Amino acid sequence: MTEKKLLKMGNPILREIAKPIKNFNTPELYQLIEDMKDTMVANDGAGLAAIQIGILKRVIIFGFKQNPRYPQSPAIPLTVLINPQYTSLDNEIESGWEGCLSVPGMRGLVPRFKKIQYSGYDVLGKKITREVSDFHARVVQHELDHLDGLLYVDKIEDHANFGFTQELELANAY
Ligand code: NI
Repeated sequence: MTEKKLLKMGNPILREIAKPIKNFNTPELYQLIEDMKDTMVANDGAGLAAIQIGILKRVIIFGFKQNPRYPQSPAIPLTVLINPQYTSLDNEIESGWEGCLSVPGMRGLVPRFKKIQYSGYDVLGKKITREVSDFHARVVQHELDHLDGLLYVDKIEDHANFGFTQELELANAY
């Protein structure tokens, strides 16, 4: 169990561009993925990008059976995605509430593509391609943004829809 320290908004590393993985199936890559899983699970995350633990590599993980931070969300299979990419399937945009382990205690309403096809590689270098929608699609778009130095707060259109989770819940905002 190696829970790593999470970088929080304001740390300049979160604004850097992560670099592609060139060598698969290496001890370093396995170790990174284990550290990411331990850190995500310990913090009830829906997903995590390597950059959030200070590693500037294009590796994301996501998935859960049930998530206490997103109790309404259906399960997403636990997935490791290396050098990921996505494309919108029909350009339909949907707004939804997001949080981030690097912006603790807060939520914001963010527009995202509703349906996407994403692809990437597993730890062995085998290609993964999926077509997904709704929260699964949202999580992948959120994690991919991290690899390019973006946070969900950058994409909030109306900052009236951004605040502390507790206050938003009291206000029945979501
Ligand atoms: Ni995040």
